Order: sequence, then structure tokens, then C-alpha cells
Amino acid sequence: MCGIVGIVSDRPVSARLVEGLIRLEYRGYDSAGIAVVNGQGIVRRRAPGKIVNLQSELNSAPIDGTCGIAHTRWATHGRPNKENAHPHQFGSVAIVHNGIIENFKPLREELAKCGHVFATQTDSEVIAHLIQYHLDKGLSEEAAFLAAVERLEGAYAVAALVGDSNQTLFAARHGSPLVVGFGDGEMFIGSDAFALAPFTKRVLYLEEGDSAVVKINDVCVRDKAGALVTREVMTANISAVMADKGNYRHFMEKEIHEQPEALARTLAAYVDSDTNLPMLGDAAPFLKSADRLVAIACGTAFLSASVAKYWFEALCGLHVETDIASEFRYRTPALPDHGAALFISQSGETADTLAAMRYCKRAGMDTIGVLNAPESSIARETSAVLRTLAGPEIGVASTKAFTAQLAVLAMCALGTAHIRGRLSEDEVKAHISALNALPKLVQQALQTKDQCEAIAPTLARAKQIFFIGRGVYYPLALEGALKLKEVTYLPAEGYAAGELKHGPIALIEEGTPVVVIAPTDVLMEKTISNVEEMAARGANVIAITDAAGAEHFTDRTENIIILPDMTGLTGPIVTAIPLQLLAYYTALTLGTNMDQPRNLAKSVTVE
Ligand code: G6P
Repeated sequence: MCGIVGIVSDRPVSARLVEGLIRLEYRGYDSAGIAVVNGQGIVRRRAPGKIVNLQSELNSAPIDGTCGIAHTRWATHGRPNKENAHPHQFGSVAIVHNGIIENFKPLREELAKCGHVFATQTDSEVIAHLIQYHLDKGLSEEAAFLAAVERLEGAYAVAALVGDSNQTLFAARHGSPLVVGFGDGEMFIGSDAFALAPFTKRVLYLEEGDSAVVKINDVCVRDKAGALVTREVMTANISAVMADKGNYRHFMEKEIHEQPEALARTLAAYVDSDTNLPMLGDAAPFLKSADRLVAIACGTAFLSASVAKYWFEALCGLHVETDIASEFRYRTPALPDHGAALFISQSGETADTLAAMRYCKRAGMDTIGVLNAPESSIARETSAVLRTLAGPEIGVASTKAFTAQLAVLAMCALGTAHIRGRLSEDEVKAHISALNALPKLVQQALQTKDQCEAIAPTLARAKQIFFIGRGVYYPLALEGALKLKEVTYLPAEGYAAGELKHGPIALIEEGTPVVVIAPTDVLMEKTISNVEEMAARGANVIAITDAAGAEHFTDRTENIIILPDMTGLTGPIVTAIPLQLLAYYTALTLGTNMDQPRNLAKSVTVE
């Protein structure tokens, strides 16, 4: 989603602004631009599409200066064309914005009556007009910026150049993250510390409602009441080296193959080496006393929550409610008096998940984040954090973060069952020993890649693809469909296998691919009955199972992907692998950009 970089320095900044933008590419965007103060005033260059387009604009018409702002835009209001790309300029003001200004229409109307003419369809442009309006009224640059921000409703991180020759960056945040970086004789603004890592690791995180005036050697921060405040400067734990693809063609491929290592790292962090029992840190007391769990997330992370529901209910006898964050926060949920809420998120910045977490916190619930980004907003605001140690995930479609979330949630369910007296030490240890086999099992599952590649052309030709499963494999069916849809743009749907006959079966035609996830378990026979129903109607069945399960499929299945034997809680994690590989190779067959699929963003910081 939108990314912001700002630099004020004693040296030219254009090249480094673009370098910062490149580090933000992973968030997903559809246009980019920069603006600098160059002695004659503010000048800008913008381009639709990828940053290379902006670079060619800059090559053919270079601009530079010692103070500037830059932006990658993920379109919300207005098409992703050059006109709507940020920075937006009006008079002697240029701004970049991440978020949504909800009251932009009345503000535009108000300013139009004062003679302001708007050049774009965006909600963001109004910010530049508002600042200029207050400058015209005689306010100082800082006062004009603050007066404009005061009028904004919605979510925003804003950075602005105010005044034709001013070597100052103005910034404000409300609902979208923003950091200030401290360099040597220069200062930075970024929508995350990762963007600034090549320049500095000393950062200050602005808090909700903060504004900042950033000059070459210092920063002045005000809180939402306008009082001057001191925010802690910390060292970001982020590598300046841009994650690269190594020997892989795509980040998605690399991240799929990194899963054995990511799982080994994550599991090791949750097992006490002396007792061989799960360690849940600050989350343990909340999980011990909760009378109900609420698990909230978006996208793939929501599907991790959905798998965890099966585990927590079966192992801990604990009622778990799962909810999509954007639904939860607006439906006046009835919250338990002694409940704990889990927030699962790779980025820790997803706007809806963050808002749902704040809602639960205000309601007095214990909040636990299951997070991959340790310095994210959710990490900083929840009462306890359980980290997934997947490492930076650059591909927009989540792969290794998903399986790392499942590994943490499995440990969490086992630890909870133990401290609540539902599982004996020996039972927990047996489960942990099964989980410890995951790196090896996942490595074996990766060997199905040639078979997945061979199946890909069939999926690539299909009008529609179904994924089905029962029990813990039902959320996996949803994830298989989501992954395929995200990176191939093919219509794919996941269903609970038993639900097919209540509607979706009407869509089955001769040759419709149906991916059936059914390793050996108590429900496998039932799923196979559903496969019969599909096969009888001409479906092209692709089974994901284990060696014992394969015996049951042989006659009526076009393709059988055989995974190693999976015991305990390992099944959903291992079956995720061929689902990811099918999506990856189908995207490869179709030639889509699976690392940055159209219209999608890695970190969704707007509602
Ligand atoms: C976006 C990403 C998904 C991700 C979801 C939730 O839609 O494209 O891959 O699952 O956001 O993100 P989070 O960072 O909260 O896990």
C-alpha cells in the first residue's frame, strides 16, 4: 500500500528518494512520484505503473534538491494514472499521503467556493489546497500545516513541503504509521523503518495524532493536543541490505522454499530447551485465564486464525470465535468479560486489524499479537506479542508468514492446553515432537514441485477452479483458492467439502478442476464421498493426500499429489506447500507478476 519517503539534507536527495521508494515496492502500488525544493521552487516528477517509469521520467527530465518527498501510490480515489499520482502540488505546497481522507468532498466543495481548482480525482489533493489556503491567510508554514491537518477526518500519514524555498519537512500521522529517521547531517521520514534502513537505523516512531517539523539537524514533535513532546529514538532491527531473490526467479518462489528454515526458527523459539514444553511468555497468563478467545485478522492471516480455532477447541476445550477484522470492528460484537483476543498479522499494520485490536483493548480485553513485524503498530500496542520468525516477506501473497503463523498458533494451542490442564506433559511433548518434524516434512512436500508445475497448465486453462476440504483442511481449501486467485487472477473458490451439494456443485462442468485436500484423518472417507459426487459430474479431480489416502483416490482422480505422512498438528502446515506451488506455477504459466499482483498490497493500511 502507499509508501512515503522524505529527506532533508545538505546533499542532493533525488536518487535516495527513489532508492527509498524501491524499498517500499513490496507493499504494492500502481504509480510513483517525487517532489524536491530546488532553488526555483517545488518541482516534481510522477509516473503511472512501476518505479522504472518514474526513473525514465527522471532520466529524461532530471530534478534535484536538498529537501524532498516521494511516494508510491496504491489507488483508492481516482484511477492510477499520472495526474492522480503523488506528490500533489498546489501553489507552494506539495504533499504525499497514505490513508483515506473521509471528509475530502465537503472540504473540496468549501475550497472550490474560495476559487480553488482541483487537478485530480484523489481525496489527498485537498490536503495541499488546505495548507495553501492557510498560508494565503497569513499563517506561518507550521501553523498552516497544523491548521490543515486539524481539518482532516479519516486515516492519514502525510508528509509535506511547505513554501517554495523551505528546507523543512512537515509530517503528521493519524491511523497510518510514520517514522522519523536520524542521519548524519540529514533527517528522514518514512512510512516504515525498512524504507530508511540504507540511510539510518536510528528512528523515532510518531504516535497517533503526532505532527513533526523535520529540519536538517533536528525534529520537533507535537502530540495531538499540540504540546511539544519527546519520543524515544530507537535503533531499528532491520537490515539495510535489500532482500534479494538469490537463485530464485521470484520472491514468491524463494519464500516458498524458505519455509523449512522459517519453521525451524519459529518452532525453536517456542520450546523451552530444559523442559521441552511450550513457552508462551507474556501471553501465558492471558491464555490460562481466558474463558473465551476471539481471533481476528484479515486475508491469509484470517485463515491461520480459522485453523487455530479447530486446534484450540479440540485441545483446550476453549471456545474460539474467529472474525474478519473489517467485520468485527463495526458489528458491535458481544465481548466476553474474561476473554483474550488474538490478532494475527504478518505486517502488524493492517488498518482493520489494528482498529479491531484497539476496540478490544478499550473493552478491557487482554490482547495478544501473533506478528511477523516486531516494531509494528500492533506489536507496540498489544499486551503480549508472539512473534513469527518467518523473516521479511516480500512477495505480496503470503506464504512463509502463513505457515509460521500456523506453527506459532499450534504451539500456542498446545501451551494453553497444558497450562489449563487439558493435556498432560507427555501428550504435549508428543505433539511437540511431531511439530519438530515439520522442517523435514515441508522439505519433502517441496519435492512435489515438478508435479505441481505439470498440473499448472490445466489450471491456467480453466474457467473456474474449486478447492475443497473438511475440518482443518477447510481453511486450507480457502487459502488454496485465495492464493491462486491472488497471483493468477483466475476465478477460484474454496468450500467445505460437505457444503458443495448445497449450491456450488451446480457450477461443475466437464473438466472443471477440483483440488481436494484430504490427507488421512477421520474425515477423509467423507471427503472422498464428496469427490465421487464431483467426479460423477465430470470434475477433473486433483487430490492432495498422503500415501495411505492415495489408495482411496486411485480410480477417479486425474492427479494425486502425495505428501509425507503427517501426524499431530502438522497436516495444515504441510498441505499448504502444494497449494502455494500450484498457485506459483499457474502464475508462471500465465506470465502474471506474482510478486506484485495487480491491485493488491502487502500491507493494507487503509480500511
Ligand atoms: C493483504 C496481503 C495478504 C495478507 C493480508 C493481511 O491482503 O496481500 O497477503 O494476508 O493483507 O495482512 P497482514 O499483514 O495483517 O497479515
